[in-house]
Amino acid sequence: MIEKINKYIDDINKLDFSNKKDVDFFNKNFLGKNSVLSELFIEFKNLPNENKKHTGKAINSLKQLISKRQQKTNLAKTDHNPKLDIDLTLPSNFEPTGTLHPITKVQSRIVDIFQRVGFSLSDGPEIEDDWHNFSALNMPKDHPARDMQDTFFISKDPDYLLRTHTSSVQTRYMQDNSPPIRIISPGRVFRKEAISSRAHCLFHQIEGLYVDKGVTFADLKTMINYFVESLFGKEVKTRFRPSFFPFTEPSAEVDIYWGLKTETDYKITKGTGWLEIMGCGMIDPNVLTNVGIDSTKFSGYAFGLGVERITMLLYQVEDLRLFFENDLRFLKQFSNLD
Ligand code: PHE
Repeated sequence: MIEKINKYIDDINKLDFSNKKDVDFFNKNFLGKNSVLSELFIEFKNLPNENKKHTGKAINSLKQLISKRQQKTNLAKTDHNPKLDIDLTLPSNFEPTGTLHPITKVQSRIVDIFQRVGFSLSDGPEIEDDWHNFSALNMPKDHPARDMQDTFFISKDPDYLLRTHTSSVQTRYMQDNSPPIRIISPGRVFRKEAISSRAHCLFHQIEGLYVDKGVTFADLKTMINYFVESLFGKEVKTRFRPSFFPFTEPSAEVDIYWGLKTETDYKITKGTGWLEIMGCGMIDPNVLTNVGIDSTKFSGYAFGLGVERITMLLYQVEDLRLFFENDLRFLKQFSNLD
C-alpha cells in the first residue's frame, strides 16, 4: 500500500499546473468523491494494526500535498497574470488632486461676505429672453443703451439671447417674490466684445439686489464699503464715480486703484490707474413697476460685480485671458489659497 501512495505522490509532483490537461487529471483523481484518498482510507481501515502507523503517515503526506496543489489550481482558475502582479508594499503613485479655479475661489469668498450680512443666493438661466435681460430693465427694443452690451442673439421669435449681465436675475427674482428682497446671484455672462487683457466675451458677475421700504443711496454706499474693505482690507483706495445704467438712477461705478507705473498698468487701466470692479445704483422706479412692485412704497439698490477684475486686483494678474486658458502653470499658483 505504501508503494501505491508513493506512486500517487510521484504522479502529483510530475504534474504541470499551468497545463489544463494536467489540472483536469489532478481534479479528477485527487479531488472530490472519487478521489484516490477515499479508496485509500477504506483500505487503511482493514490493515493490521501494526502497519497502521506507517501507512497513516504516508496517507497524511499525500493529503497535504493534494491540498497544497489544490490551492495552486484555485489560483490558476482566476486567470492569474503574473505580469499584473501588484506589490502592495510599494508606496503608491499619488495622483495630483485638482483644486478650484481662482475665479471660483474668489467668487465663493465674495458670496460669503454678502451671506454674512443676510443676502441669500439666487440663480437664473444663462440663455435668457429679451424681456428679462433688457426690456424689463428699462431698455425697450431700439433703446440706444442696448448697444452698451454687445449681445450674442440666439433666436428672434422667441427672442432668446445669452444673458449680457446677471441683472436678468434681478428681474426674475422680483417678479416671483415680494419685498423685502436681499439676494446675490453669481454667474456667467456673455458679450460680443473684442478679447483683450481687460475684456473677454465670457466672464463672471455677481449681482446684488436689495429692495425694501426706505432703502437709500447711503445704504448702498455702506454695503459697498463693507464689501470692499472685507475683501481688500481697510487700506484699499476706492472711488465712486457717477455713471449711467438704464435700470438704476442715480448710477455709479466703483473703481479700485491698481497703479500707474508700467506700460501694462496703462493698458489695463486705460491710462487712469483705476480698475472698475462694479456698476451699481438705486433701482429705477420703472423697473419696479415692470416687475409688479409698488415703487411708491418700496425702493432698492442693485450692483453687479466683475469677478475677473476683482481677482486681477487681488493677485496682480495682468491679463484677464489667463483665467480662460487653463494653463496649469498659471492655475497651480493659486492651489494653496482658500
Ligand atoms: N448690469 C450692469 C453691467 O453689467 C452692472 C449693474 C448691475 C449696474 C446692477 C447697476 C446695477 O454693466
